[in-house]
Amino acid sequence: MSYVIGIDCGTSGTKAVLFDESGETIASHTETYYMYQPQNGYAEQDPSDWADAMIDAVRAVVSLTHVKKEDVKAIGISGQMHGLVLLDKDNNVLRRSIIWCDQRTSEEAAWMTEHIGRDRLVDITANPALTGWTAAKILWVKNHEPEIYSKTAHILLPKDYLRFLLTDEYASDVSDASGMQLLDVKNRCWSDELLSEFEIDKSWLGKLYESCEAAGTLTSKMAEKLLLCEGIPVVAGAGDNAAAAVGTGVISDGKAFTTIGTSGVVFAHTSKISIDKAGRVHTCCAAVPGAWHVMGVTQGAGLSLKWFRDNFCRSEKETASLMGIDEYQLMDREAEKVPAGSDRLIYLPYLMGERTPHLDPDARGVFFGLSAIHTKRDMLRAVMEGVSYSLRDCVEVFREMGISVSDMTACGGGGSSPLWRSMLADLYNCEVKTTASKEGPALGAAILACVGAGIYKDVQEACGQMIHTDKVQQPVSRNVQIYEGYYQLYRKLYPALKDNFAQLAKLS
Ligand code: XUL
Repeated sequence: MSYVIGIDCGTSGTKAVLFDESGETIASHTETYYMYQPQNGYAEQDPSDWADAMIDAVRAVVSLTHVKKEDVKAIGISGQMHGLVLLDKDNNVLRRSIIWCDQRTSEEAAWMTEHIGRDRLVDITANPALTGWTAAKILWVKNHEPEIYSKTAHILLPKDYLRFLLTDEYASDVSDASGMQLLDVKNRCWSDELLSEFEIDKSWLGKLYESCEAAGTLTSKMAEKLLLCEGIPVVAGAGDNAAAAVGTGVISDGKAFTTIGTSGVVFAHTSKISIDKAGRVHTCCAAVPGAWHVMGVTQGAGLSLKWFRDNFCRSEKETASLMGIDEYQLMDREAEKVPAGSDRLIYLPYLMGERTPHLDPDARGVFFGLSAIHTKRDMLRAVMEGVSYSLRDCVEVFREMGISVSDMTACGGGGSSPLWRSMLADLYNCEVKTTASKEGPALGAAILACVGAGIYKDVQEACGQMIHTDKVQQPVSRNVQIYEGYYQLYRKLYPALKDNFAQLAKLS
């Protein structure tokens, strides 16, 4: 039996999972870390925290099992997209990483649109200028921290920084690189035109690969640290969403998934490149060679629930730990006691601005309809519903684009909540499946690793062998009706508040 390790560098932590070649989890371990928010709308992480977490997580899974290290054949990596890691010529990290949900780059994104032209940007990168994507972050450092920028010798994405530590190679894959806004997404190569317009040296960027190709081998130094064999392939891997697609079998037209991690994403595979001219959903290269995907993104999905938990659910945390269960499970049970609609309370999940469909870094969270009758429990359910309304917004854009979302799988931390899955089934009015494995992007990374190591001939064959469907959630017709009314009202709230959000952003 062969084994592979999938590593996912997420926003709340880095997970390592040891899988066998049938997709069975042998051991899984996550190490968490901090997200720094030095100002309202800023979000940063320390790459050394990711590195420490990766090493500890891999060591934990390897030492938890009796699998011989010689049987671990490859490593696959995935990670949060868009984060900017800058290294100097001696490979020192130059500043904390500015990560995907950071919204400081409005001026840089506006400059990109003006300088290149919106249509040309969409032609090349398949997307309009986006505040959360890497190019705008690079320009922000250039404009605001010239002394740091002048020392830059390498630009990497979060998982690609981990790959560098594993292999000594500067590399990326086409799915994650799509989110840098420096890639010619149709032709799957760096755009010389954009690099020259933005004055970014091509040698600073990694070598590009398709996701299932090996992009280096494990160095002896890291092999020793990770308790693995030197020289095993480390595949190019994928951005977390493209990896989750592989891990849920969303690798052909008609298939889609919703993930609720820190962000929330609705993702659909497309064998032909498909672009929303209004830029409300992103188009990127898929982790399947020669294919693309579209994805709508909610900035504050699991992030909203975590914010609510950290600020208002201390007692639930304590009770859950006494009961020996996960605190989110307990919160789910509480929210289940509240009827659909949370007794006329609507939450807008825009804690970190919003992408789909508003593309507004100034948007902020709102509880609408709060009354003296409401309790913490109602607010908790409203948070979960508000995230679901915003995911329905993504589905609406797909429907407008003629993209089918009838075969829907739920994944991510939120996807393992039966209550959240049922809200999605009711709001999408279609069945929502889950996969037996709850490892999401880490399984996708492992599937890609199996292909890179030659265990399976391609992504299709590997998915067929390694993915197993689990429960199916059907919509409940009464709730479909109730939620339709709430969703239609939810849709009216952002347009009504848009100007007020902009005004709020200007207050000191
Ligand atoms: C996608 C996005 C997030 C991150 C974090 O565009 O920004 O989903 O990948 O998970």
